Amino acid sequence: MIEKGGMLYEGKAKKIFLTEKEDEVIQYFKDDATAFNAEKRGTIHEKGVVNNKISTRLFQELADSGIPSHFIQQINDREMLARRVQIILVEVVVRNRATGSIITRLGLEEGMLIAPPLVEFFYKDDSLGDPLITEDHIRLLKLATPSQVTELRNQALKINEVLLPFFLKRGMMLVDFKLEFGLWNGQIILADEISPDTCRFWDVQTGERMDKDRFRKDLGRIEETYQEVLKRVCTPLN
Ligand code: TMP
Repeated sequence: MIEKGGMLYEGKAKKIFLTEKEDEVIQYFKDDATAFNAEKRGTIHEKGVVNNKISTRLFQELADSGIPSHFIQQINDREMLARRVQIILVEVVVRNRATGSIITRLGLEEGMLIAPPLVEFFYKDDSLGDPLITEDHIRLLKLATPSQVTELRNQALKINEVLLPFFLKRGMMLVDFKLEFGLWNGQIILADEISPDTCRFWDVQTGERMDKDRFRKDLGRIEETYQEVLKRVCTPLN
């Protein structure tokens, strides 16, 4: 039995609780959903359960491929036990196809193949609206050292190489995704979550959006789609 201590932090989609071990925390997944820097708010019924289970499966898949993360074990439907890390305030985005903010920023055509994949960095600061930043900005703000930035990029691309075929086998194109990393014993490890909240998936057959864009753009059938992603990710393949 894992003893749940006081709340350490509450974010938009998750809460972090202390445990009796000072280097382990409980990550609790909420149903709350926000978009556009929390200008749009709502709830997605059972999203917390879905994202906890999907993140668990993906962290396990990455561990099997030699990519460490903060994940230790799933505790129950909405909670996982994780290593306590110091979050690096850089959001790392990997893009395989053009959509979302890169379209408005650079005028690319929706769905354009991006090969090799592109890595972008955003400053994790809600009061600034998470702006796009360069490696020089990261150095200026002392968010990470140049060698840590190289490590972030390399780990993000390696994660993409594991996840692209994983989703393709399940009929989903991994269009883009956002990662957060943390420092743990002087090492950079993957943290946070990987879920339909933090990735974009397009159905390979129909092109249908299977992620939080359904909430962001009011596309409907949000809960149903999250459940479908859970089914595809967590049902063993024959
Ligand atoms: P973007 O196209 O809006 O920059 O999003 C890129 C990827 O990052 C996409 O998979 C959605 C994800 N993302 C988050 O996880 N959190 C955020 O706050 C934003 C803006 C995007």
